[in-house]
Amino acid sequence: MGLLNAENLTIEFGGVRAVADLNLDIKEGEITSIIGPNGAGKTTTFNIITGVYKPTVGNIIFDGENITGMRPDLITKLGIARTFQNIRLFKELSVFENVIVAKHTNLASNFLTSTLRLPKYKSEENNMEKETIELLERVDLLQHRDDKANSLPYGKQRRLEIARALATKPRLLLLDEPAAGMNPNEMDEMTSFILKIKEDFDLTILIIEHHMDLVMEVSDNIHVMDFGIKIAEGTPEEVQNNEKVIAAYLGVDEDA
Ligand SMILES: Nc1ncnc2c1ncn2[C@@H]1O[C@H](COP(=O)(O)OP(=O)(O)OP(=O)(O)O)[C@@H](O)[C@H]1O
Ligand SMILES: [Mg+2]
Repeated sequence: MGLLNAENLTIEFGGVRAVADLNLDIKEGEITSIIGPNGAGKTTTFNIITGVYKPTVGNIIFDGENITGMRPDLITKLGIARTFQNIRLFKELSVFENVIVAKHTNLASNFLTSTLRLPKYKSEENNMEKETIELLERVDLLQHRDDKANSLPYGKQRRLEIARALATKPRLLLLDEPAAGMNPNEMDEMTSFILKIKEDFDLTILIIEHHMDLVMEVSDNIHVMDFGIKIAEGTPEEVQNNEKVIAAYLGVDEDA
């Protein structure tokens, strides 16, 4: 049993099976990648795991608990966080504010204690500020704490997105194309950043990515999807030499 298991996951949109009979066994402490051509069902898989979509058939088991169809905020609380294919930041807010807003998801106080600013809320607020500073330091963004999110260079905006996900203290982190649109230099930085946070935050990581250099360097395991179906699975070396995989990628631009 992995930290996360998907069992026979299937979802249909208007009769089209975007994900079909997918099984995943995500081992604790590993980095697993999901690769495959555009429209293969990769992001849809993330959306099912995080509770955005309920699967037509199948189950998601996280740490032994069936989380299928559970509300997204409850799934976050259980320890699953994600980033999005297209950057989602509060552009006009500072780096610090972007992270502390994400932390509020975990706030224990109810509406009344926070509205009345009761002592419990205040101490939680102070604590969150402290934790936010600490987190920014660990992801090397502290020097930008007061900068607006949209003033950061692109690579750092992507890192801030990951920091927002880390703010909810996940055990499992899902990254949807963390290196999308990056130049080779930014991609190298993202590669080492992913390896660093995995150790530093004791994470299990699931990555969707089209940049094969990054995938091959960070992954313990790779799952290959095509038209909603898993066509191959294995170590980077096994997958690279798999004929079905090569065929699925023929004529497909890596950066598409
Ligand atoms: N809400 C939806 N309604 C209808 N169809 C959808 C919906 N979400 C996804 N799809 C379809 O499901 C298929 C898989 O889409 P998905 O976004 O998962 O692909 P992907 O593997 O992430 O591709 P890409 O690499 O381009 O991001 C596509 O055909 C897409 O159009
Ligand atoms: Mg996608």
